[in-house]
Amino acid sequence: MPHARIRLSSLADKIVSAEEAAAHIQDGMIVGMSGFTRAGEAKAVPMALAARAKVAHAAGQPLKITLITGASLGNDLDKQMAEAHLLSRRIPFQSDPALRKAINAGEVMFVDQHLSETVEHLRTNQLGPVDVAVIEAVGITAQGGIIPTTSVGNSATFAILAKKVIVEINLTQPMELEGLHDIYIPTRRPFREPIPVVAPESRVGLPFIPIPAEKIAAIVITQKLDSASNVLPPDEETAAIASHLMEFLKHEVKIGRLTNRLQPLQAGIGTIANAVMHGFIESPFSDLTMYSEVLQDSTFDLFDAGKLNFASGSSITLSKAKHDHVMPRIAEYKSRLILRPQEISNHPEIIRRLGLIGINTALEFDIFGNVNSTHVGGTNMMNGIGGSGDFARNAYLSVFVTKSIAKGGALSSVVPMVSHVDHTEHDVDILVTEQGLADLRELAPRERARVIIDNCVHPLYRDALDDYFARGCARGGHTPHIIEEALSWHVKARETGSMLPEQELRIA
Ligand code: COA
Repeated sequence: MPHARIRLSSLADKIVSAEEAAAHIQDGMIVGMSGFTRAGEAKAVPMALAARAKVAHAAGQPLKITLITGASLGNDLDKQMAEAHLLSRRIPFQSDPALRKAINAGEVMFVDQHLSETVEHLRTNQLGPVDVAVIEAVGITAQGGIIPTTSVGNSATFAILAKKVIVEINLTQPMELEGLHDIYIPTRRPFREPIPVVAPESRVGLPFIPIPAEKIAAIVITQKLDSASNVLPPDEETAAIASHLMEFLKHEVKIGRLTNRLQPLQAGIGTIANAVMHGFIESPFSDLTMYSEVLQDSTFDLFDAGKLNFASGSSITLSKAKHDHVMPRIAEYKSRLILRPQEISNHPEIIRRLGLIGINTALEFDIFGNVNSTHVGGTNMMNGIGGSGDFARNAYLSVFVTKSIAKGGALSSVVPMVSHVDHTEHDVDILVTEQGLADLRELAPRERARVIIDNCVHPLYRDALDDYFARGCARGGHTPHIIEEALSWHVKARETGSMLPEQELRIA
């Protein structure tokens, strides 16, 4: 029977149940699935697969796959797949508590990867081949092209490289999303042409994923919504972080390093980055653009406030209220939006060319400006590096934000030495906490430590860090450390649950 969203009529007989489609996936396979920051993930097939794996596990004949996505999945899919023991290997990002537990228990081998790089590894056979790709779509074109939904992520390369493609057509995703996507695949190295994106609004590819229709092995019709984003609203501390950043940017404009339009903005995932972007609403800056990865609520608030002219990203992840406001009006926003493959949204060549202001979040940073975004206590994976490394290394201004303390003050987010390094001091220009902002540009390590301790540290920890740094300087060195004490704050937190110095503990 013909289906309105499948314009190539010869594909109509490919429509099957999720269980029948999932049967194409067998133990040991490498599977690429759509989905990026809880948006546009395939929904029915992974659920059917998790149900099958659960039964197989109970019967002592485990079903295990390597799962590669764009980034994190919504609808508790990573939880369901982890709890069904379906995942032997997971690449390149996740943000689910149950999967995190399985990763930290050593049950799932998680490869934490720069988000721009995964498909390069696939193309060069360092990873792969991809056996099956499962891609959510709003529809299929008359040529068999796949029209993605709320994310592009790695979907295009998965579909192009996979032996078989399963398409989930999600009827809850508005058909008006068609035309939003810009699918451009770089040519092979070493003969790669320059990627012709010269502005956030550059359209350089196709509005669908071009694959031979014969590769489509199954089509599943679904009706499940994307999960709502779980970011929290701005609070006093995140408002203070935003305010420090706005003051800094105003100063940069005043002294002529930036214009009032700034440079294209990139903002990381999560509560803090979203809240910081809200700071631009009340700012004097105008005609802003974004060249980012995930477009959160703040992007649409900035559009509605008349501050933002254009936003390019790889996914749209919204709260329930913002989803209900934006999706029925997506046609009105469409001329100011592009969704690209994540290797293009995060491509070092383009980030350098456009001169982005990249704003990402740290779990902790040290007095010399090294940043840990991923490992709690140097050991337990939180989410993954995501795109923060792609942006931090190549941005014009690389900004990291965090609250100065965590867990009610028991942990300082500014420490003598980070317990894990995601972004080295060489990739970090500006650090901001609710306490203040440290501009590290062109400073030597001893100068960096001074501005970080003076501006970013919570009063509970300032004296202790000052003391550590003074004793380090007395001992000497280009980057002065008391090396036997450098991780002592983390050791103490592991043993007692707190980094607080003795006198502060007595007061508490
Ligand atoms: N030590 C231990 N835990 C810490 C911490 C620290 N120094 N600082 C924060 N945390 C904990 C918080 O307590 C919170 O824990 P909870 O979930 O148990 O409440 C958790 O980390 C998240 O912190 P939150 O303050 O809610 O920030 P967030 O939602 O903005 O997330 C990151 C912060 C770092 C986890 C998140 O931004 C991330 O995963 N970043 C890496 C990937 C990335 O930057 N991608 C974007 C590229 S485009």
